[in-house]
Amino acid sequence: MKLAIGSDHGGIHLKEVLKKHLEERKIECIDVGTYTEESCDYPDFALKVCREITEGNVDRGILVCGTGIGMSLAANKVKGIRAALCGDVFSATMSREHNNANVICLGERVLGPGLAVCVLDAWLDTEFAGGRHQRRVDKIMAIEE
Ligand code: RB5
Repeated sequence: MKLAIGSDHGGIHLKEVLKKHLEERKIECIDVGTYTEESCDYPDFALKVCREITEGNVDRGILVCGTGIGMSLAANKVKGIRAALCGDVFSATMSREHNNANVICLGERVLGPGLAVCVLDAWLDTEFAGGRHQRRVDKIMAIEE
């Protein structure tokens, strides 16, 4: 699995924690920025990560901002993206199993680093269940048309 990760200034510290964790898990990850603590606009980085997915360069994406909310709002505007804002392991698991989320959004100012890593691991390690959930995901995607 190959991932893209991005954050704004509000998520840059958690982004570094998650990158280190992915490195330890030997999961390849493209960091699209931001690279400094200077104030920036989260939609720019949401779009960069989403484009990596829609262009087929990576399988899934991770977005981090202060709350994760802005990133999820922006990412869900991109055709082909199903972004899930997750603050707990159950939601992260279900966002994969039932919703086939291809982006996870996390809030650095909401989650401690330990919980964020557990939430991310649950999301990475859960496969989409398909079946009746495929029909529902298809209906979500049809809304884009
Ligand atoms: C930046 O201050 C903050 O608004 C941003 O990181 C995010 O929380 C937006 O949803």
